[in-house]
Amino acid sequence: MKALVLNGPNINLLGLREPQIYGSATYEDLTTLCERAGAEVGFSEVTCFQSNHEGSLVDRIQEAHGAVDGIVINPAAYTHTSIAILDALKAVGLPAVEVHISDVDAREDFRQVSYAGRACFARVAGEGIEGYRHALELLAERLR
Ligand code: DQA
Repeated sequence: MKALVLNGPNINLLGLREPQIYGSATYEDLTTLCERAGAEVGFSEVTCFQSNHEGSLVDRIQEAHGAVDGIVINPAAYTHTSIAILDALKAVGLPAVEVHISDVDAREDFRQVSYAGRACFARVAGEGIEGYRHALELLAERLR
């Protein structure tokens, strides 16, 4: 079982970025957590990819077809704007879990829309970077 963990814009600045909202862990801490948690829940491989560019995220979703079994995705700000990411997820048809570090439901109105979420079978939000472990668990359960 192989998983792809995708992160959108500004997630590379974790630790620096609004720590009162996103915590003090860095993006490197996040990738280490995903690799470890992924192995614990039964993935033989967890690949992490972050980009600040919508098209790069779309490219990576397309490349996931035939290469991995499922996707964990935090599209970050593109969650609320990107029909291209939604369409890419629908096109490849892989099981996907949406994850957000913060509790988006308790934040601004403009964060209440999720396009990518429409192509995901589950959503984890407000659990900090530990939410990625939860998302990988849900994905592994779905694939078993
Ligand atoms: C986020 C929430 C988004 O609204 C925001 O634009 C992000 C991060 C989160 O993980 O909580 O960049 O996806």
